Amino acid sequence: MSDRLRTAVLGASGVVGQRFCELLSAHPFFAPPDLYGSERSGGKRLSEVLTIPEARISGELLESRIAHADAAAVRKGGYDIIFSALPTKIAGDMELELAAAGCRVFTNASPNRMRRDVPLVVPEVNHDHLSIVKGGGGFIVANGNCSAIGLAMGLKPLQQFGIRSVEVTTLQALSGAGYPGVPSLDALSNVIPYIAEEEEKLRHEIPKMFGTVESGTVKSASMEVNATCTRVPVREGHTESVTAVLDSSASADAVAAAFTNFRSLPQELSLPTAPTVPVILTQENGRPQPLLDVNAGEPERARGMAATVGRLRVAGNTVRFVVLTHNTIRGAAGGSVLNAEIVHRQGGV
Ligand SMILES: NC(=O)c1ccc[n+]([C@@H]2O[C@H](COP(=O)([O-])OP(=O)(O)OC[C@H]3O[C@@H](n4cnc5c(N)ncnc54)[C@H](OP(=O)(O)O)[C@@H]3O)[C@@H](O)[C@H]2O)c1
Repeated sequence: MSDRLRTAVLGASGVVGQRFCELLSAHPFFAPPDLYGSERSGGKRLSEVLTIPEARISGELLESRIAHADAAAVRKGGYDIIFSALPTKIAGDMELELAAAGCRVFTNASPNRMRRDVPLVVPEVNHDHLSIVKGGGGFIVANGNCSAIGLAMGLKPLQQFGIRSVEVTTLQALSGAGYPGVPSLDALSNVIPYIAEEEEKLRHEIPKMFGTVESGTVKSASMEVNATCTRVPVREGHTESVTAVLDSSASADAVAAAFTNFRSLPQELSLPTAPTVPVILTQENGRPQPLLDVNAGEPERARGMAATVGRLRVAGNTVRFVVLTHNTIRGAAGGSVLNAEIVHRQGGV
């Protein structure tokens, strides 16, 4: 186990950071991470600041102390891989500084997602975009917005039919706002029909994910995406109601088969955090539901990594469905870990 790569998690005390700790507790490629947070948790043990008690974090990691994340201290750590769950306001500059110093950064934060030199990768959707960062030296690989990741998982099986436009309404979990997130009196018995900057992220990130690599950068796909983003009183799991208009008509059977048969590189490589079935199609009318389906994904260490698609309806060239993904696992930490597994397996780190 000693030849495992050395890792660090920035923002380890947050809801995404704790999911990183869970996924890296006993990873076959990556050693348990060193932990970094703000001055608030600096010096404390992870067990003292835990907000997701059900996260399956090893005893060793729970007893690890969190250091204050300043770029110089992190650089000195000499890590093979740095996973970032830093807040927007500090992530942009710190990640660029670390990449410039030769660090390989896999981030969940938004500031660098649309940079030309940063691939925005959902492993099953556009792993080929990782070619942008091949060739040694430091780099940033970004995860998408948590709803964009779920939407991309739901759309990818339809790409073979050509996707002209997408209309999506999201029902996003409270944990999507981090901890402590939305005040309880605003959230309980309520739906908030607006999340700042979220709709723009879906509009811009999905075409980049479905774009093509040309001369070392990504050319976004010409796909129109319109979104309405809402916050609902659900703890974990973003549900999205999607209408996709295809380039041409497809039969209901062909569309259902496209979802059922969908597999991608992480499955071909049998990567540790890859779900064996990345998109699960359910025929039950009352599914997917966050309470029942948010942890979809097998084997055990890929729990929360599968997207569940249901309510599939096909009429001519219009496909309607509901997709559910775990926002802090598939939509954040798990997506980053799977990206790092691909890069590692392909010799990039
Ligand atoms: N929540 C989601 O579903 C989700 C999904 C996709 C992407 N993201 C993105 O992932 C990132 C983390 O989100 P989150 O939901 O985990 O947020 P969170 O629960 O608020 O956690 C933020 C983390 O950042 C640390 N931090 C805050 N200020 C810092 C500073 N000045 N220096 C160093 N560390 C600092 C915090 O440490 P302390 O606890 O010590 O203050 C904490 O560990 C954000 O960029 C978010 O947009 C979140």
